[in-house]
Amino acid sequence: MHSFHYVGRQLHCEGCSLESLAAQFGTPLYVYSQSTLEDHFAKLDRAMAPLDHLICFAMKSNSNLAVLRTLAGLGSGFDTVSSGEIRRAIAAGADASKCVFAGVGKTRDEIAYALEAGIYCLNVESEAELKRISAVAVERGQIAPVAVRVNPNVDAKTHAKITTGTYENKFGIAFEEIEKIYARAAKLPNLRLRGLQMHIGSQLTSVEPFRKAVEKVVPLVDRLNRKHGFDFFSIGGGIGIVYKPALESGAAGWWETAEGRKVLTPQRFAETLVPLLKPLGLKILLEPGRYISGNAGVLVTRVEYLKKTGKKHFVIVDAAMNDLIRPAFYDSYHEIVPLTKKAGALVSSDVVGPICESGDYFAKDRPLPKVGEGDYLALLSAGAYGSVMGGNYNTRSLAAEVLVKGDNASIVRKRQAVEDIWRDESVATWQKS
Ligand code: LLP
Repeated sequence: MHSFHYVGRQLHCEGCSLESLAAQFGTPLYVYSQSTLEDHFAKLDRAMAPLDHLICFAMKSNSNLAVLRTLAGLGSGFDTVSSGEIRRAIAAGADASKCVFAGVGKTRDEIAYALEAGIYCLNVESEAELKRISAVAVERGQIAPVAVRVNPNVDAKTHAKITTGTYENKFGIAFEEIEKIYARAAKLPNLRLRGLQMHIGSQLTSVEPFRKAVEKVVPLVDRLNRKHGFDFFSIGGGIGIVYKPALESGAAGWWETAEGRKVLTPQRFAETLVPLLKPLGLKILLEPGRYISGNAGVLVTRVEYLKKTGKKHFVIVDAAMNDLIRPAFYDSYHEIVPLTKKAGALVSSDVVGPICESGDYFAKDRPLPKVGEGDYLALLSAGAYGSVMGGNYNTRSLAAEVLVKGDNASIVRKRQAVEDIWRDESVATWQKS
């Protein structure tokens, strides 16, 4: 479910018309729905209720403080990947003891900070990292809670750039190596072997790869638990979302795609995995990012120009790949709809940004309603890996962000002032006159 829908001809986020938000806050503008975030969290939480579990929202997907505050308020933990993310989560009101720290390249300073903050666990990606964590823990006179990330070598069958669970990837430690690594880790000082972690990929639209990976890894967790006394097993994130909804075609619901495929619901996910996980008797951690935030956000943009070339009809908008890089980077599909519904025939359009790169596009040859200069469009499903992957390419300011709750809208990141982009730069000492 999500809370972006037309009321009459106007696209709304909950009780707010997006057109009025665009007029008030300008564009490009990210708009998030608090109710959608809450609804997604609650659905997954309920589905997993038969297990002792903790949802650690993968904040890399959306780390706006207001989004984090919403989820922290529901009791969510956070999956973090840098000390910056841990600090940000704490700044948003997160409980550090519900945060895990992942990533293949943790520095000594980051490890020290994670220990100081008192996080739940460090998810370890190599033996060298185990040794480093042990050494930092000894220096600090602390015990470091750790879990090794197992690479189960199960193909998630998702986009090559977001699959992580096969031996082609840099992530985790090979399934066959894990027991030896734990045996050696048990001899390192100041480590508490708290659990095992896995994550096989992102945007999985079938439960099968999860089932395969869990079936393969559960016996390993069981053996390790008997030896080392675990608290938890983390099954990672990766639940996929609908990017191409069949809104107008008599589809059964939001979870059916334009191709008529049904995607992964929390119920289906839980029905399949809970029976496999229950016998372990451990706390189960989940690290969903996209499932919670993806369809809770849109990017609103204004049409600047229309341009016809020999073959193409270009719609040039004021958002660009620096605001939302997913189409350029992964060829990903984002539904594009006008904020004011239009009647009439669809026009095959290329929706492009103003950046000087051919890759700066949001859609190619997409049948879209005929729009004109000054019209607004929304790029849907932009709440995950949207704003967080934004940058300043072409000296473009980071977009503003708004959180909506019912009839209320609040600016939760103001548009970056252009001077702030180069505020920390200077000319070289010898160039100063
Ligand atoms: N846990 C770990 C260890 C991860 O590496 C990730 C995502 C997650 C959890 C959350 O996965 P999710 O539930 O959001 O699928 N920028 C890409 C996605 C990169 C995902 C990286 N890791 C995109 O825009 O599709």
